[in-house]
Order: sequence, then structure tokens, then C-alpha cells
Amino acid sequence: PTMQQVRTRRQELRSRIETGQARPVERQHRLGKLTARERLALLLDDGSFTELGLYRRAPGPDGKRPHTDGVVTGSGTVDGRKVFVYAQDFTVSGGSLGPAHASKIQHLMDLAVRVGAPLIGLNDSGGARIQDGALALDGFGGIFRRNVQASGVIPQISVVLGPCAGGAAYSPALTDFTFMVRETSQMYLTGPDVVAAVTGEKVTHNELGGAQVHGTVSGVASFVCDTEESALQEVRYLLSLLPANNLELPPAQPPRNAVADLRPALADIVPVDPAQPYDMRLVLAEILDDGEFMEVHENWATNVLCALGRIDGQVVGTVANQPLVLAGVLDGEAAEKAARFVRFCDAFNIPLVTLVDVPGFLPGVSEEHGGIIRRGAKLLYAYCEATVPRIQVILRKAYGGAYIVMDSRSIGADLALAWPTNEVAVMGAEAAVNVVHRREMAAAGDPARLRASLAQQYQETMMSPDFAVERGLVDDIVDPALTRAAIAAGLEMLSGKRLTGPERKHGNAPQ
Ligand code: COA
Repeated sequence: PTMQQVRTRRQELRSRIETGQARPVERQHRLGKLTARERLALLLDDGSFTELGLYRRAPGPDGKRPHTDGVVTGSGTVDGRKVFVYAQDFTVSGGSLGPAHASKIQHLMDLAVRVGAPLIGLNDSGGARIQDGALALDGFGGIFRRNVQASGVIPQISVVLGPCAGGAAYSPALTDFTFMVRETSQMYLTGPDVVAAVTGEKVTHNELGGAQVHGTVSGVASFVCDTEESALQEVRYLLSLLPANNLELPPAQPPRNAVADLRPALADIVPVDPAQPYDMRLVLAEILDDGEFMEVHENWATNVLCALGRIDGQVVGTVANQPLVLAGVLDGEAAEKAARFVRFCDAFNIPLVTLVDVPGFLPGVSEEHGGIIRRGAKLLYAYCEATVPRIQVILRKAYGGAYIVMDSRSIGADLALAWPTNEVAVMGAEAAVNVVHRREMAAAGDPARLRASLAQQYQETMMSPDFAVERGLVDDIVDPALTRAAIAAGLEMLSGKRLTGPERKHGNAPQ
């Protein structure tokens, strides 16, 4: 054959593979899902995709299996910045993972780490390819090991756009962020049939592992979106806030003179009475550039907020108590949510801004039995080992162990600021008096009056706004209106921070 004939045949084959089989593509669309290639077109800049392994296929018992082996892999750009991406193709063998499919993903992961660019996985798969037996499990293992080796080196993002069952669910769990789409994506280790057989519980796929469940109850999904299109748009936005790898800084935008920015609304948003709730999101909107931020786990462990945004053009990670939910206490879930976020920011050179308004840890038998000590320690551990610039701002109250954990000076904050009404204390005044003056009150003629007067005394001395700043727990008192300006100035002061600990293999973070 002539070169021209060879070329034409090759082109026909390529376009046949890219178009896919009509019936499963129609089915995919009928289910409200896009094909792997349609998804890549939405995720990546136009015309930027370079595919790898299009012709890859595996020998099957019934002859050759389809080309691509059910996964499209390659590299492209998002806003001009390079990413590596794989998209499982449910129209080919249900996107199931056999050895060729796995080796394509593994090769892509190796390239992403070598080059130092984010890895994005679009998951839509029936899991381990049953015909391949244990070889498929071996393929998953190789992916998980690479997920862990790449952790903290390049950002890894999983987008679950269909089923993600069995062992397959562990790859998203090991990556930094997991997106899910309402109605069309599910994650579980054992499906509804197995659950029914083992425990007798009858549930649907969505009840067991839909986006709603993982976005609100289990905390498996970091972001929940209404459609595939919006999920892929959100991935693009998230990438705009992340560096390509751990050796780079996140992309900055031009500064906007935030150091001179007055925000008088802050004093109105936050009531002076420490028991009165308010929405901490409104505070974030005042402090961050353009009032814009991307909240991780928006509907899970909502008593703490974790958000990425910018101050004066620089990306920051904010952790903030949310007085609107459970009065903003920390509990096991909130500590776990914030801990993972802090570690992510630390790994990728994103400074931490911690906004504190916390009455303590949540008391209760179920919290204690649920391991609040172990789980709270994760957040403590995460902050203690974080070497990025760290700024703490105490808005109102900061009580007890929760004060320490919320990035206090003692655990390594570089700059601690507080509003003029701050209360940094071991506990509230009444509770303190009940413990310290128990005997006097038992003997008093009018215990209520004595309690009130002792509480006032305690409040004025031990909880006064001057206590923490006079003793060096706080560096400065800032007017609420100047909070954004003071954080911007602090970030400027701390840029270039370097900190290395003693050499060790790794710490042993509480689990
Ligand atoms: N291995 C091999 N082929 C698989 C597969 C797997 N794990 N999962 C799906 N497929 C194939 C199906 O056989 C079907 O092939 P066909 O079009 O030639 O008939 C195609 O992919 C589509 O699957 P289907 O079951 O029709 O899709 P669905 O949307 O109704 O259901 C699942 C999706 C994922 C719920 C269902 O396919 C399933 O339960 N798969 C097995 C999950 C599993 O146990 N995986 C192994 C554990 S990790």
C-alpha cells in the first residue's frame, strides 16, 4: 500500500475509535451523562488535548478487545496551564479496569509527577474488569500506590461522573479533592445487592453512595455539583487557585492595595454578644478579594468553613469557625475536615488564614466515644507541622483546647491578631467560677448573686481583651474594619517564610 493509503486507513481507524459505538453512546446520553471525549472538551482549553494510548487494547478470550481499553488518557491545558487527565469511557466495557486500562492510567500518573503538573481523573466505571480477575486488582494497586507517591507533589483531583465502586473508590479517596454530580454519580465499596445480602438493608444506588450522601453525611465528596458541565467548570476554577506542583507558588493575580482596604461592614456582621450567631461566610466575603471563595465540603461538617480564595491577589486557605452551626464548636468531623485542608494548603505553599470564634469542643458521650480526642488531634497535628505562612485572627471568643487548636501562637502561628472585643480564655466566666469557687458558693447565703459577681470579676481580669495581647498570645489588636488590610500586610511580611524541621522518615499523624 502507498503511504497515502496507510494514512487514510489510520485516519479512518482513529475517527472510528474516537466516535465510539453508537448504542452505548446513546445510552450514556440517555442517562444524562456525557462521553469521555465530550467531558475532556469541556474541561480542557479548545484543541489543547494530546492523547496517549489511543490504539492500546488488550487481547481477550474472544479476540481483541476494543481500542483505548475503556480509558482516554493524555495531556492538555486549562487556562493555558498544563494538566494530565484520564477519562474513563463507560461506553467501552463499562469503563471497567483491566491491565491495559490500568497501565495507561499509571503511565499518565508517572508523567504528571515527572513533569510536575496536576492530575485529573474523570471516573465513570464498573470497577475491576471481571473477566481479568485478579489482574484488575493488581492494576488498581498500582494506581493507589502512585496516588500516594504523588500526594503532596502534584495536585490530584478526582471527578466522579458515574459509578465508582469497589476498590475503584479508593483512588478518589487518596486524591486531594473529589467532585461528584447529583443523581448521576455513585461511590461505594459494596453495592446495594451485596449490602442487602449481608445486612438485609434495602437501599438504592443513590441512597447508598450518591452525591448527596457523600457531600453531607460521609464527607467523601469535597464538592457536589448539579451537572457534569458545572462540575468540570468548577474543576477549572479550582485549578486557577492551585500551583502546578509543590515547588511552585499558587498563581497570583495583580495586587490591589488591600493593605489600605477598609471594611466597615465587618463590625456590623459580627455581633458583639459572643453568644449571638452570624454567618462567617459574610466575613470571608469581606476579607477575600472580590468576595469570592471556593468552599471545600460546603455541606459537610458545616460548623467549620474551609475555603480557598485570594487576598491582595495571593491565594490563601482560610479555616474559620461557623457560629451559625452548633455555635461554631469543633467536633470530630469538623476537625477532620479542617485537618485535611490545612495539610493540603501546607503541601502546596498556600498560606493559612484562620478566623477564630469558637466556644470549645463539642461536649457529649457520643463525641467522646466517637474519638474526639483522636480526631481533634488530627487538626492539631496538621497545624503544628504546617510550615506555610500562618495568620490567626480572633474575632470574638477563643476558649479552651479549641483556642489552641485553631492555630494559636503556641502551635506555630506566625502572626496572631485579635479584635478589640476578643475573649481568649480557658472557659466562659460562669463555668470557670463554678469550678474555682464551688465551696464559697455552697456556703453563701445568696449563691446566685455571689456567682454573678465572681463571674464579672473573672471576666474583667482573666477574659479581658487585653489579657492575651499583654501576655504575648496575640501580637496586636486590630479594628474589625482593618482586618483585611492587616491580613494583607501580614502575608506580605511573611512571604518568603522558610522553616525546616529535623530530618525524619515521616511523623505518625493520628488517624
Ligand atoms: N467488568 C466487566 N464489564 C463490566 C463491568 C465490570 N466490572 N461493569 C460493567 N461492565 C459492562 C457490562 O457488562 C455492560 O456490558 P455490555 O454493554 O456488553 O452488556 C456494560 O459494561 C455496561 O454495564 P451495565 O451493567 O449495563 O451498566 P449499568 O449502568 O446498568 O450498571 C454498574 C452499572 C456499575 C452498577 C454495573 O455495571 C455493575 O454492577 N458492574 C459491576 C460492578 C462490580 O462488581 N465491579 C467489580 C468490583 S470492583
